[in-house]
Amino acid sequence: QNHIVIMAGGIGSRFWPMSTPEYPKQFIDVMGVGKSLIQLTVERFKGICPKENFWVVTSEKYVDIVKEQLPQIPAQHILAEPEARNTAPCIAYACWKIRKEFPQANIVVTPSDALVIDTAEFARCIAVALEKTADSQAIVTLGMMPTRPETGYGYIAAQGEADAKGICKVEAFKEKPDVETAKGYLAAGNYFWNAGIFVWNADTITNAIRRYAPQIAGVMDELEPALFTDREAEELKRLFPTCEKISIDYAVMEKAEDIFVLPAEFGWSDLGSWGSLRTLLPQDEAGNAKVGSRVDMYNCRNCVVHAAEHRQVVLEGLEGYIVAEKDGRLLVCRLSEEQRIKDFAAGK
Ligand code: GDD
Ligand code: MG
Repeated sequence: QNHIVIMAGGIGSRFWPMSTPEYPKQFIDVMGVGKSLIQLTVERFKGICPKENFWVVTSEKYVDIVKEQLPQIPAQHILAEPEARNTAPCIAYACWKIRKEFPQANIVVTPSDALVIDTAEFARCIAVALEKTADSQAIVTLGMMPTRPETGYGYIAAQGEADAKGICKVEAFKEKPDVETAKGYLAAGNYFWNAGIFVWNADTITNAIRRYAPQIAGVMDELEPALFTDREAEELKRLFPTCEKISIDYAVMEKAEDIFVLPAEFGWSDLGSWGSLRTLLPQDEAGNAKVGSRVDMYNCRNCVVHAAEHRQVVLEGLEGYIVAEKDGRLLVCRLSEEQRIKDFAAGK
């Protein structure tokens, strides 16, 4: 029985002011296609399992947004974290919960904010991965072909020959290396980017968390008797914030054995920055990309503009700039300085 766990508790701070802590990027129509990133995520898993088997883990602040954007997901499958503790506790909570109701569950854990172009190929890859994990203790990751020494991703080193389905054993998983190390990985040739999607069955997840993140497993065991009872919210509020704050990549993937990678090509982007958004949107001859039907650019080059549908934005003579406006906030920033946006948003 397949289940999908969508992680949707991030705050998307690199996309301010389009993304804010009150309304982060996974809930925004970043691409201007009429659907938010989380709606596109759900759509892409449609054929894998019925809507009753979808789960969303998010901050309690965003529960109402999730209900509004994803009315098809059962309300009791929207899991509300009282505090953000990063992805390891997020996955542990979802897993302990699913396992209590469906001990045989085979689970895909996915981010809510990535973009996939070839959704048919994506669905095929997920099905291949699920087939592998249905009756084995494997953790299957999806490997994206790296094109630059990106330091914001995890890297997966494949080992040996692929099996008949294209799946390879993983030699090592390295989360967010420095740029020199990343260059070495690119040169080595057997490294893939981690898409942040993990396929494993409920037993495998529990065992891995017990073994590599015992503190978090301990908290979940204490919470366990309250799951699905009227004490759950109260116990969660007391216990969840005591979980170690760590991502699943550092907590489990870097340490686990039995990791596999399915190298895949379905046009993937994690939409991590304004620069990456510019390359994904349709561009005019001068390299400008925009979302917002009332945006006009004159003598502009290599800009990315994001405006609300009803806003009129006129730009002249800008080169290599981000212009983003939302709800009374306006950002005009050189693309080359975009890694500072987090700080600008915080007033630093
Ligand atoms: N519920 C919940 N709680 N969700 C969270 C939390 C949390 O505390 N923190 C992050 N998330 C969600 C985000 O909304 C996103 O959908 C997903 O979990 C991944 O978190 P990111 O914060 O975006 O991770 P990352 O981009 O730095 O790194 C991960 O993804 C990369 C690919 O995009 C890692 O898995 C990397 O290895 C990977 O390459
Ligand atoms: Mg991310």
